[in-house]
Amino acid sequence: MITAVDVIAAKRDGHRLSDAQIDWVVAAYTRGEVADEQMAALAMAILLNGMDAAETARWTLAMIESGERLVLPADRPLVDKHSTGGVGDKITLVLAPLAAACGLAVPQLSGRGLGHTGGTLDKLEAVPGWRAELSLEEIAAQLADVGAVVCATTPTLAPADRRLYALRDVTGTVPSVPLIASSIMSKKIAGGARGLVLDVKVGSGAFMGTLDAARELATRMVEIGALHDLPTRALLTDMSVPLGRTAGNALEVAEAVEVLRGGGPADVRGLTLALAREMLDLAGVSADPAAVLDSGAAHAVWERMIAAQGGDPTAALPRASSVAVVEADRSGILRPDALAVGVAAWRLGAGRARKEDGVQAAAGVRLLHDVGADVRAGEPLLELHTDTPEALEGARSALTAAPLVSSEPFAGRSLLLGSVGSRSSAG
Ligand code: URA
Repeated sequence: MITAVDVIAAKRDGHRLSDAQIDWVVAAYTRGEVADEQMAALAMAILLNGMDAAETARWTLAMIESGERLVLPADRPLVDKHSTGGVGDKITLVLAPLAAACGLAVPQLSGRGLGHTGGTLDKLEAVPGWRAELSLEEIAAQLADVGAVVCATTPTLAPADRRLYALRDVTGTVPSVPLIASSIMSKKIAGGARGLVLDVKVGSGAFMGTLDAARELATRMVEIGALHDLPTRALLTDMSVPLGRTAGNALEVAEAVEVLRGGGPADVRGLTLALAREMLDLAGVSADPAAVLDSGAAHAVWERMIAAQGGDPTAALPRASSVAVVEADRSGILRPDALAVGVAAWRLGAGRARKEDGVQAAAGVRLLHDVGADVRAGEPLLELHTDTPEALEGARSALTAAPLVSSEPFAGRSLLLGSVGSRSSAG
């Protein structure tokens, strides 16, 4: 007979867990027979002593089998994308309609943001009327009709992960490569896609601070995908400075719409196109995503995708009641730290501290120049948007954690740092 204490002790003492131990502990935790404190101890033992590739793959399978797998209609290639999360990461808002306009079907079942990285659902909820919760029938119908769905994940997909992720969040056990890899991949495999492109962020605003750590996570996820018949590729991309000029829900939606109209910041457009090319290549579909973006076809899919979920794509987005300006304290190169901007946006109300909290649609940070611009002392650098002006002081102090203006020359942003499993990209 397997007991929770035996499993915990095995991992505490640095042993591999057997398939039977993994299957049992994940299933028993889902049924409520393994207590939170026991699972927390096991998660900490895994964080400290790791799991090898085979253990991680088995852990992933056990989490998938704790719930159901979606079976989605497949008259077009179903390819999903996942980002490990960053500051100003509004790529999904552009990429899902773009990939659909290129001929793919994109089922994006997402979560809400916690901490300094914003959640895609929180961003879309800034659009008046838009609703995140869809039934399985609605997801299937929208995929067939529009080709792109971004909605809340259903409670029946990998329920073991839902409980375990919440537990890890309050026990300091999130930053473990096998636990992150199995958490993300269990939801993606259960979500029914036939191909997956990962955007693994590297830098101060990301889970993975170094390229080596990001590559390890990406490699583990690509391996799990292969073992579960989900062809997976990963791009490793920079998150040392924010993506684009905005961090915060409505601000990011507005910027994504600029990119969908063929404009917007070059880094947001460039990364969206790089990920779209990977998705198309993975599916064997030949299309030129840059031409599709410039033709307005992706913007047309965006409008249908928003309207299909009750949103009004033509409605004005919410605006904050207070906007404060931060000025340069010296001359140099604008180079805001991603984490500092993410924490500032979060304190302004764009993010939540506990999963029960709400978010302000209009709160966030808007840069007034591109990263890398020459700025002079006293010049306005960025705006802080909030409906709770008492939050401004905390946001300003977050921005002092790292200098906004650097005296070092900036050679330009190298957004693509490498790849795992890709045929075409760097690395
Ligand atoms: N995102 C997830 O879904 N799970 C993790 O463990 C970390 C990030």
